[in-house]
Amino acid sequence: MKLNTSKIITACALILATNVAVANTATSEKHAVKATELRQAVFKMLGANMGTLGAMAKGKIPFDAKVVEKNATRINQLSFMIADYTATDTSAYKVKTEALNKVWTDRDAFEKRIKDLSVASEKLVKAASTGDEASTRAAIGGVGKTCGGCHDNFKQED
Ligand code: HEC
Repeated sequence: MKLNTSKIITACALILATNVAVANTATSEKHAVKATELRQAVFKMLGANMGTLGAMAKGKIPFDAKVVEKNATRINQLSFMIADYTATDTSAYKVKTEALNKVWTDRDAFEKRIKDLSVASEKLVKAASTGDEASTRAAIGGVGKTCGGCHDNFKQED
């Protein structure tokens, strides 16, 4: 079978295009509400997975490297969803949100914070996979810092 080069190139370009978060603006209140729900869903999942790790780091629940590895893997995967699920600018609508407008006006800095979380969570997956408690605890702290680092700049104070 002869491979059709131009078809392959087109297919690759399509794959690339669908993976890039294209910034856009909500076009109706309904659209803004839906986009906000999805955005907050990603952060809620991050919170749920991080909560367990924080409790372990503080010694409130027993340390379990397998659970850390599982949750850290999820956090890492969720980090790759943040760009897409925050791409829709909802700032023109009255939605219940803690996202500051900077999420959309200072996109480069926001994406740098996302990258920090991806890197830190990948480090945590690696540390947990060794089963070493001390380095895993330290790496949990490293992930926590990247959550706080973004919140300090892009999320309203609670
Ligand atoms: C790149 C920036 C960024 C990173 C990194 C980040 N967050 Fe957030 N987070 C936000 C923003 C912005 C909001 C506000 C979303 C909204 O209200 O629309 C938010 C909201 C939240 C919420 C509230 C969700 C809700 O609506 O109930 C939780 C919980 C949360 N983040 C946890 C975390 C945890 C845990 C981490 C790290 C593992 C993390 N976040 C990393 C930006 C970030």
